[in-house]
Amino acid sequence: MFQSHFSYKISRMKILKFTLFIILLMPLIYLVYLYQMQDLTADPIEYILHYTGIWTVRILLLSLALTPFRNLFKQVFFLRIRRMVGLFVFFYATLHLLVYLGLDLGFRFGHLWEDIVKRPYITVGFLAWLLLVPMAITSTNGMLRRLGKKWKTLHKSIYLIAILACLHFIWLVKADLIEPLIYSGLFFALLFYRLIKYSKS
Ligand code: HEM
Repeated sequence: MFQSHFSYKISRMKILKFTLFIILLMPLIYLVYLYQMQDLTADPIEYILHYTGIWTVRILLLSLALTPFRNLFKQVFFLRIRRMVGLFVFFYATLHLLVYLGLDLGFRFGHLWEDIVKRPYITVGFLAWLLLVPMAITSTNGMLRRLGKKWKTLHKSIYLIAILACLHFIWLVKADLIEPLIYSGLFFALLFYRLIKYSKS
C-alpha cells in the first residue's frame, strides 16, 4: 500500500518535471519554427538576440520566484524543479551569447573581448553569464554534497546575476525603457521578499 502510494507520487513528480522540461524548451522550438517559416523580421540577428535575451530574463525570474511560490502554495514541487529551471537559465543565456558571438561577430573572439572591455552593457552581460557557469557546473547532487555550506554561498550569486541582468537590459535599451523597468521591478520585488525573509530568520 505504502509502496504503491510512494511510486505513484514519484511518477507524478516525473510527469510534472517532464512537462515543465517541454514547456521550457518551447521558446527554442518556436524560434526554430520562425526560422523555418523565414519569419524573423527584417533584422533576424537583432530579433534572435532580443528573443534569447528576454527568455533568459523570464526564466531567471521564474527561478527566483520558486521559493516564494513554495511558501505560498506549500508545494514541494517548486523546490524539486529548481535545478532544471536554473539550468535552463544557463542554457538560454549561453544561446544568447553564442548568437551574439556567432551571428553578430562571426566568431571573432578578439571582437568579443573588445566589446567586453569597451561597452559597459556587454561587460555586465558577460559577467552575469560568467557567474552562471560555476552555478551550472556545481548543480549536481555530488557537488552539493562535496561543497556543503560553500554550495549555498555560491548559489546565492543568483541575486547578483539578477542585478547584472537588469543593468545589462536597462543599459542597452535606447528608447523605450518600459520593458526593462517592468522586469527590473519584478526582480526587485523578489529580492526584497528574500531580504525580508532573511531578516526574520
Ligand atoms: C544572464 C545573462 C544575460 C541576460 C539576462 C541578457 C539579457 C538581454 C536582453 C533581455 C536583451 C534584449 C534587449 C532588447 O533588445 O530589448 C539583450 C540583448 C543583448 N545582449 Fe544580452 N543578456 C545576457 C548576457 C549577454 C552576454 C554574455 C552578451 C555578450 C557578450 C550579451 C549581449 C547582448 C547584445 C549584443 C544584445 C543586443 C543589443 C542591441 O540590441 O543593441 N548579453 N540581452
